[in-house]
Amino acid sequence: MSALTPVDLRCEYLEEPHGLETAHPRFSWALAGDGTALRQTAYAICAGRDESAVAQGRGDLWQSGWIESDDQLWQPWRGEALTSDMQVFWSVRLRDDRGQVSGWAPPRRILTGLMQPGDWSAQWIARYFVLPAGREAPADNSYDNPWQARPADYLRREVVLGADVLRATANVSALGLYELHINGRRIGDEVMQPGWTDYHQRALYECHDVTGALRRGANAIGAVLGEGWYSGRVGHNQRRAGNHYGGRPAFLCQIHVELADGSSVRIVTDEQWRTAQGPIRYSDFLMGEHYDATLERDGWSEPGHETTLWQPVEVFDPDPAPPRLTASKSPPVRETRRFAGKCLGRSGSEWIFDFGQNIAGYVELRIEGAQRGDRFTLRHAEVLDPDGALYTANLRHAVATDHYTARGDGAETFKPHFTFHGFRFAGLTLPDGIAPGAVRLEAIAIQSDLPDTGRIETGNALVNQLASNIEWSQRGNFLSVPTDCPQRDERYGWSADAQVFWRTAGFVMDTSGFYAKWLDDILDAQLDDGAFTDVAPSKPLNPYRLTGQPGAPGWGDGPVIMCWQHWLRYGDRALLEQAWPALRRWSAYIAEGNPDHLRVNRVHNNYGDWLSVGPASDRTMVATAYWAYVEDLMAKIAEVLGQETHAAQHRRTAEQVRAAFNAAFVDDAGRITGDTQTAYLLALDFDLLPEEQRLHARDNLLRTLEAADGHLQTGFLGVKHLCRVLADNGAVDYAFRLLLNDTYPSWGFSIRQGATTIWERWDGWTPEGGFQSANMNSFNHYAYGSVGEWLYARLAGIDWDETGPGFRKLCLRPLFDHRIGRVAASYRAATGEVRSDWEMTGQRVRWSVELPPNVTGMVELAETARAVGLDGAALAPAARCFAIGPGRHDIEIEIALAEETG
Ligand code: BGC
Repeated sequence: MSALTPVDLRCEYLEEPHGLETAHPRFSWALAGDGTALRQTAYAICAGRDESAVAQGRGDLWQSGWIESDDQLWQPWRGEALTSDMQVFWSVRLRDDRGQVSGWAPPRRILTGLMQPGDWSAQWIARYFVLPAGREAPADNSYDNPWQARPADYLRREVVLGADVLRATANVSALGLYELHINGRRIGDEVMQPGWTDYHQRALYECHDVTGALRRGANAIGAVLGEGWYSGRVGHNQRRAGNHYGGRPAFLCQIHVELADGSSVRIVTDEQWRTAQGPIRYSDFLMGEHYDATLERDGWSEPGHETTLWQPVEVFDPDPAPPRLTASKSPPVRETRRFAGKCLGRSGSEWIFDFGQNIAGYVELRIEGAQRGDRFTLRHAEVLDPDGALYTANLRHAVATDHYTARGDGAETFKPHFTFHGFRFAGLTLPDGIAPGAVRLEAIAIQSDLPDTGRIETGNALVNQLASNIEWSQRGNFLSVPTDCPQRDERYGWSADAQVFWRTAGFVMDTSGFYAKWLDDILDAQLDDGAFTDVAPSKPLNPYRLTGQPGAPGWGDGPVIMCWQHWLRYGDRALLEQAWPALRRWSAYIAEGNPDHLRVNRVHNNYGDWLSVGPASDRTMVATAYWAYVEDLMAKIAEVLGQETHAAQHRRTAEQVRAAFNAAFVDDAGRITGDTQTAYLLALDFDLLPEEQRLHARDNLLRTLEAADGHLQTGFLGVKHLCRVLADNGAVDYAFRLLLNDTYPSWGFSIRQGATTIWERWDGWTPEGGFQSANMNSFNHYAYGSVGEWLYARLAGIDWDETGPGFRKLCLRPLFDHRIGRVAASYRAATGEVRSDWEMTGQRVRWSVELPPNVTGMVELAETARAVGLDGAALAPAARCFAIGPGRHDIEIEIALAEETG
């Protein structure tokens, strides 16, 4: 039996796709081994409808036989084309370089979706805006609801099944958010389903296996509908009326049921459904939720429920047209962590609870002994103000308040349905007669449930907290789309924040499916003239909202940068092919507007190095620098796609922009216009300068750092380059000084103020004391967390190698520093788990690095480091650069004292 094991099996981007829409999907697996077998030499895939047969390598749909290849990523299905509504199991086994064969991996399941538009017969249904004559709605006595947020709609129908259920799949979508219930049971553990898209073009649907929920005889299918991103309050919200994409949520459901008598039944949304309102008086992203438990409808999703007062639904075609239905390529949003609330005491009428971590999510309230009608109010905040009260001014128009009206029958539990807040603290107002001891609060974090891939722990507490803050800002903002912040009336998919953070994000979690989904949104949002937008999903033609705004340099450039990084991290050529025409249109859009190769036109809001401190960087300089970088990447992507003509054209444009950059912004002494840290960082990291100017630029960078008393001043665009450029240009010590600074401005300053996520601004809490302007002061923005990639690439020394995309090859360039002392890190790459652990004692380092089978790495130590021992053998002469193969390697390193290196 081979010592190689296929693990982390994936079909397209997911462990178990629910709603696969590709008739010829791609399969990937990672490799694990004990270091004896080093390479896969062949693989075999089998797939079929019978799980236990597939587990034995017998599949009735496809048997690949041995394929002589060491490929393990994106291997194509070569069987009969898959069709709609199938349940397929697949597995893989390997042969290794010693001729040993592995066992079949535990089968993974695929639920194919409804691949053809014609497969859908279900209709969109919703609550009438205006009821047909004679069907008045009962009066609504809910809380003050200044924003007229709608009550949630309850929908249901009954169906009788004449035989036992063999298999049943529910394909479900909503314009808004939905919960599916069958026979009294909530289906699935996803929340905020189906997710955010530009509903005028696309709506996501999810496939749920409901075999276990349906039964012979009477059944009831029910749904609860929330406003969500479709008709709720989203973003900068002046009008307060919501209706971002439409005026009311709508539901679509199609259930395919195979029965034991050989017959099949299709249950669809149509005029047979009925609707009513219930305990959810409103539930809105910015408002919060009011849940009135006295209005609960017990048994509403069970057969036989009394529905006299329920109304007919309206069957209709959404405006402006029914959206295209596509299954999500990304893992869904789920509840992922819980934090117990610690009562800090009272502030005014509120009891203040600290959950210890700033998150995106909501609070679950457990109550003992409330009276019927008792009201509980929960407000949320990221920070407290100096006298211990909730600080909510930075939420702007987000009310972020939940209300619960008790049923009054013993133990009650409440958590919201269709809202989430950005918070660490909550303020609870209790009804008279209820003491804080009678309630228990837990904060529940929600996020797109991407597989965790990275872990890094060091001997430095500040760096560990920074790594945790980066991770939690990612968790708090990866929610169907990568948002800028989770707490205020914004929460948009801003593309520059994402692109500067994307390399970091991919270390922390598997972003492949999440990006594939968001790329669809980005392409949906691209404007007719080729402009990518600042944010995606967008809603074009919206005068008072900035969604649909053509992209600024650094922002609109995001898709090119993220597509390239996606390629390097996952080796996913199909995504590059999908995006290429749109990327070309963006590149042409810039070039057509700027014939002189200085990016002065089509720059729109041109935000520049957003939220930098100190002197401002010249925005045309920043824009032109980004243009050169983007053209370099376009040339590389064209090469990967074998489009040599285009590659040459993009290389040429990049050279012309470089020349224009140097002519316009770089003087003979190597000073760059604006003379800011970011100017030198972009010029060095985007390789804009002639060789002889690079040292000048480096020295100028050091001079600007000294001028800032050894502190960073960079904004969203400059920050990610800081440590890398310093370390790659002979100023490693300075990189560590900046990383470990804890006085303003620095990453450490916010940590010293108690931050558990990354702040939007370096002075969210100012060094003089007091909060920054409430107009824009989020305590959970990941853009400044883009230093995370440097922690993995240089502290752990784990990084991709452009010549081996998908982590088939690695660059291993650890920097050892006594202020860090030790590092224990791992990264679950697409090819397998990479581990790097080092400990420094005096001038010696013990470093063990482990590569998965099939993977090689090039070690490159810093100028001051030399490997003197490898896997127990002395290295003579000592080496700085050397290659290693799969398996674990123990390396002894000597660090020369700085002056020794002269
Ligand atoms: C957002 C940022 C965004 C910026 C662009 C801010 O309001 O929070 O994430 O990048 O606007 O100006």
